[in-house]
This record gives sequence, structure tokens and C-alpha cells, in this order.
Amino acid sequence: MKRPVIAVVGSVMMDLTAYAKKIPGPGETLVGKQFTTGFGGKGANQAVMAAIAGAEVYFIGKIGNDLFGDQFLENFKARGINTKYIERTTEPSGVAHIWVDESGENRIIIIPGANHKIDSAVAANAIAEIPNLDIVIGQCEIKQEVTLAAFKAAKVRSATTILNPAPFEELSPDLIALCDWIIPNETEFAELGNLNANILLTEGDQGVRHLSSGLHVPAIKVNAIDTTGAGDSFVGAFAAKLKEGEEIAMKFGCIAAGISVTRKGAQSSYPSYEEIATFS
Ligand code: RIB
Repeated sequence: MKRPVIAVVGSVMMDLTAYAKKIPGPGETLVGKQFTTGFGGKGANQAVMAAIAGAEVYFIGKIGNDLFGDQFLENFKARGINTKYIERTTEPSGVAHIWVDESGENRIIIIPGANHKIDSAVAANAIAEIPNLDIVIGQCEIKQEVTLAAFKAAKVRSATTILNPAPFEELSPDLIALCDWIIPNETEFAELGNLNANILLTEGDQGVRHLSSGLHVPAIKVNAIDTTGAGDSFVGAFAAKLKEGEEIAMKFGCIAAGISVTRKGAQSSYPSYEEIATFS
């Protein structure tokens, strides 16, 4: 089967993560256990997982003219992702401040920086010219107008569109109408309200549910130490495997996400193709 061609229009962040026994309360100072710097951003995470899962991936986004920007480009290249449509700006690269507690749960504050400078026309033009494009993936860490322009261009080419509405923000009816798949987690789903859309609900350690068909794939049983980027690994793996069928894609995504939570970080926690394919 031909490798699917996927364009991710989205965010790139440097994840600055503090691990501690518990998350501090208001006004409280705690001594943490570890600090890490790692590659993140929901868009970049999804692109990396889609590439691991066998897709040919193009990333459309914006990064700073700074050290993090240089590192993002090197990382994308090392992961085999096409960087032709990544632009640079004087705005600083995006960063995410992350706290992870003992149970692996996180709290995240993102500072989008360069991610909010992506130009809609540049994104739409990229989508229009990527050869043999199959799928376009978007999230909500960039301006919604950019995702809208990219999805409009995707539909002109009959490409499949997948939106991960994270972090939650109200979606315009125009954008919803352009989505073939919407993949929220339970919190985002509750905020989305009643949508007439094709929804794949990620339920954390319960697995993933396709609401219209009722198909449910359970999560693998693991000991979670850091859930950062797990949802992104599901989205990227699901997209890369979608041509092989929805159930296969859901299972592959669940295994990828399940293994990822047993390791620290976002992209640093992602398993190899072989690990996912041979998991039993
Ligand atoms: O979904 C996880 C990601 O959210 C992290 O990598 C962080 O960068 C934030 O964007």
C-alpha cells in the first residue's frame, strides 16, 4: 500500500517540564523531582507520530529565529518530516510550561509566540501544492482562521480532514462543516456540546470510542508516569493508519498512546513502529 501523505498544520513548542509529587496549590512552593526540556507542541507531536507510523509527513507552521527554532528544524529533519513549509519569524518560538504529578497527570500553559504568526494564505497554498495529499490534520494551538483556510484548501483536493480541538476553544460552524473527523478528549467533548460531526472520543485509560458507529477500542493496561502528548500520539498514529481501516487505525493509535504514557515527555515517549506493531 502507498504511504499516506499527511500535512499537519499546527503548533511547535519547546516543553519545559517539572516533575513533582503533587501539583502546588495557590501560593505554595514545592521542591520538584526533575526538570526536562523536550520537543512538543500538539501539531509537531502529531506529525512525529504520523511519521513513525509510516506516513509521508509535511509540517506547515512557524517557528522563531532563535535557538529553539534551530532545534525544532533539526528534530523534524531527524524524524523524516518535510520542512519546506515551515517559516521563521522574529517572534519567539512557542513554549509550553508543564507540571506533571506522581500519577502522571499534567497541567500545561502554552505561550504560542511564533505559532500565532502563521499566515492563512501560506498555509492554504501549501495544502494546494503538496503532491498526492491524503490527509490534513489541525489542532487549536494556532489561530483558527489558519486551520479554516487549510481545511478549505484540503476539501478542494478531496483530502480527509482531522481536527483535534485541543486546547478547547469554540469552533466556528464553518470549520466544523469542513471536518471529516473531530478527535476530542472527554473534557473537550463536554465543552464542544452537541455537534453534528463525526466524533472519535479519546477516553484516556478507557480507550477510544467512535460515537456514530459505537465502535470502542480499549486502552492497553499500563502504569502511567506521564500522559503528556498521549492524545497527540493517538491522533498521528490514527491518521497514518486510516487508509487500512478505522478499527486498525484506532487499535494502532491506542497502543502508541498506551506505550507513550509509560515514558516521560511528549515526543521523547513515542514508541517505534516495531514496538507498536509487535505489542501484545
Ligand atoms: O499535547 C501535549 C502538548 O501540549 C505538549 O507537548 C505541549 O507542548 C502542549 O502543546
